[in-house]
Amino acid sequence: MHKIIDGKAHSRGIRQEIAQGVQQFKQQYGKEIGLAVVLVGDDGASQVYVRNKIKGCEEVGIKSFAYYLPADASQAQVEELVSELAVNDAVHGILVQLPLPEGLDAQRILSLIPVSKDVDGFCESNIGSLCLNRPCLVACTPNGVMKMLEREGIEIKGKNAVVVGRSNIVGKPMAMLLLNADATVTVCHSKTQNLKEICSKADILVAAIGRAKFITADMVKEGAVVIDVGMNRDENGKLCGDVDYENVREKCSYITPVPGGVGPMTITMLLYNTLEAAKRSV
Ligand code: GUN
Repeated sequence: MHKIIDGKAHSRGIRQEIAQGVQQFKQQYGKEIGLAVVLVGDDGASQVYVRNKIKGCEEVGIKSFAYYLPADASQAQVEELVSELAVNDAVHGILVQLPLPEGLDAQRILSLIPVSKDVDGFCESNIGSLCLNRPCLVACTPNGVMKMLEREGIEIKGKNAVVVGRSNIVGKPMAMLLLNADATVTVCHSKTQNLKEICSKADILVAAIGRAKFITADMVKEGAVVIDVGMNRDENGKLCGDVDYENVREKCSYITPVPGGVGPMTITMLLYNTLEAAKRSV
């Protein structure tokens, strides 16, 4: 029997805790918690993400500052804005929505975000701290996966965890978090040989590939925990994950659906990081 991990329900529970934390912060320090969101250009998906991030802020009582720059904004304009936000005391977290339009140097722009306001957990210092298993702001999607595993009471220690995908935003930090939680971790990617064999040994399998229904039932061990970070469209234009959900789910002990699994947790962990950043700033 498999259990479907309900990301929306976990998200609701965590957001309630965050809202309480935000309220407490306001009472204790007499000021608001602020998150600055920067969107450059008019990418449709990014606009939806940013709107949901701002809505999430409202829900938990975080003040959001939204900045919309045109697609032809110059490198200097974006850098100037981020530099101002870096020294603005009302702003505890800064999020520059990615991808940035072509021609902008994202790395240089992100490097202007102070470590203490890096609520995406993308900067070198936060990644380094994560590798050293020290307290830091952790990338939202992998941190959301860890929170779901924890809240479901799924044991990680000593388990074989396989992460498919090695992106800086998901795969790498995910592998580090699982390693820090005492799993034996294997990271697979597009050049991996014997992918099926490796995946089928996983007690915990995290799919972060970006290809619709890539993980098929023959790649999954009986009783595995399967976490699907993918967000794709199938041949009929329907939202689907990286896991062939219909065929895989019968083999799992736990599985996350798409939509409604990992997705809702990402924004929740952004709000969580913003509260953390504010608490550390005082
Ligand atoms: N674009 C897609 N996912 C993310 C994210 O988590 N953070 C930012 N800043 N941009 C993204």
